[in-house]
Formats: sequence, structure tokens, C-alpha cells
Amino acid sequence: MATFTLPKNSKVKTGKKHETATGGTKRNFKVYRYDPDSGQNPRYDTFEIDTDDCGPMVLDALIKMKSEQDPSLTFRRSCREGICGSCSMNINGKNGLACTTAIEDCKGAVTITPLPHMEVIKDLVPDFTHFYAQYASIKPWLQTVTPEPSGKERLQSPEDRDKLDGLYECILCACCSTSCPSYWWNSDKFLGPAILLQAYRWLADSRDEMTGERLDELEDPFRLYRCHTIMNCSNACPKGLSPAKAIAETKKMVAERQI
Ligand code: SF4
Ligand code: SF4
Ligand code: FES
Repeated sequence: MATFTLPKNSKVKTGKKHETATGGTKRNFKVYRYDPDSGQNPRYDTFEIDTDDCGPMVLDALIKMKSEQDPSLTFRRSCREGICGSCSMNINGKNGLACTTAIEDCKGAVTITPLPHMEVIKDLVPDFTHFYAQYASIKPWLQTVTPEPSGKERLQSPEDRDKLDGLYECILCACCSTSCPSYWWNSDKFLGPAILLQAYRWLADSRDEMTGERLDELEDPFRLYRCHTIMNCSNACPKGLSPAKAIAETKKMVAERQI
């Protein structure tokens, strides 16, 4: 039987243990640490946290680790309300937002790693350059050809506005795309669930007048059709959205215009 081993510098080693000096309820957090510039292997550091002296969310624990135990710990966060999408990471094997994941809902030692299958800039910070370039490629803005009604906005009926529900709430956290096996293997060409949901957001907008051009751009064996309806994306979304449904609707639009 063939055996495979990881390249030497990709093995995750055991790192430091940071203990807490205070009493209270202690929980261990196993946190992925990696600095590509150091030439060192990645490692898991263990941080012991007194959860009686900490906010309730995983992000609170990370902030406590950084302020009290190791200031070099690197992660993104901004709103701490599930709105900005910055704190997406993998927590106990599931992609999610650190600011909306309660510590008490995590079992055992809480293992925290960056979003899977993305280049790591440092520790829990993945490189979103390619993801954002894919986002820009779908032209995520209203495109029109008819002149604007003079002195007025382009209006939309309440029914047409309702069609954007379940789409406009996307915070581009990439939890869905980085849980999609098709995106893991083909992210160079497949747009992935987050960007396809965003693409559908403009297809579904009654005010947009570039539907045909948008569908032309998507109709491609890789950009759209690498989705094989595995549904990981909809299970992963911390906002309760369904990229898989948006992708299915897009495929339907492509099919219907061919009839
Ligand atoms: S439904 Fe499509 S986009 Fe979603 S996880 Fe599956 S393959 Fe990926
Ligand atoms: S669809 Fe959900 S998981 Fe995907 S990027 Fe948007 S908010 Fe994040
Ligand atoms: S900090 Fe903004 S979504 Fe978590």
C-alpha cells in the first residue's frame, strides 16, 4: 500500500503552553500559529483561559490571549457582532465567526485554525487576495443601460425587493467557499459559493439590466459548473444563507435562456 507523508515544513508541531495565573473555570484553547517568514513549521500553542474572567465568545477568548498571554497572536476582527465577516476561522472543525460562536457551545479543548485551503499570512489570518479578485470579477454593482429617471432613484416594488432577501445579508466571510471541496481543488477557476451567491444577488435584482452579460460570464464548466451540489456551503454559513440555492437558481436561469 502506498504511504504518503507531508513535506517536512508542513507538519504542525506542538508549541508553547500559556497558563493562566487566575483560578476559576479553566478551558484550553489549541491555537494554530504560523509565520511563513520565520522558516519555522506551524505549531499549536495551548492557551489556558479562565472563562469566569472572559467574555462568552471565542473572539473574547482570543482577545484575552492576545492582551494577557501573547501579544504576537494574530487574527482579524472588527465589529464583534457578526457583521463585518473579519473573524471567520475554523473552530473545532467547523468554519464560523469567532464573535458569534459561544465558548460554552464548543466541546473539550477548543481547536482554532485558519479557514481551510487558503494561504496563511500569519496565524489565523488567511490571504483573501484571490477571493476578493474573484468578487471583483462578477462586477458586484448595479449595471444599467437605460437613463436614470430624472430626479428619482430607480425604484423597485416591495415584491422585487423581497427577492434579495437571503442574498444581501452575505458578509463575504468565506466560511462557505472554504468548506466547499470543489473550491478547495479548483479555486483558481471555480468562483465558489460565496462569489456565486453574490453574482446571483445581482441577477435577482429587478433594477439590473446586464442579466444576459452576467450569465454569459458565468456559463462556464469551471466558474459555475464546478458546483456539484455537495451542500457544505449552506451548512457552513454563519448568517443562515444558502449559497447552494443561489447557485441552483443561477443554473436554472442559464438553462431557461437556452430553451
Ligand atoms: S453546493 Fe456547490 S458550492 Fe456548495 S459546497 Fe457543494 S459544490 Fe461547493
Ligand atoms: S454566503 Fe454566508 S458563509 Fe458565504 S460568504 Fe456569505 S455570509 Fe459568509
Ligand atoms: S468581528 Fe465582525 S464578524 Fe466577527
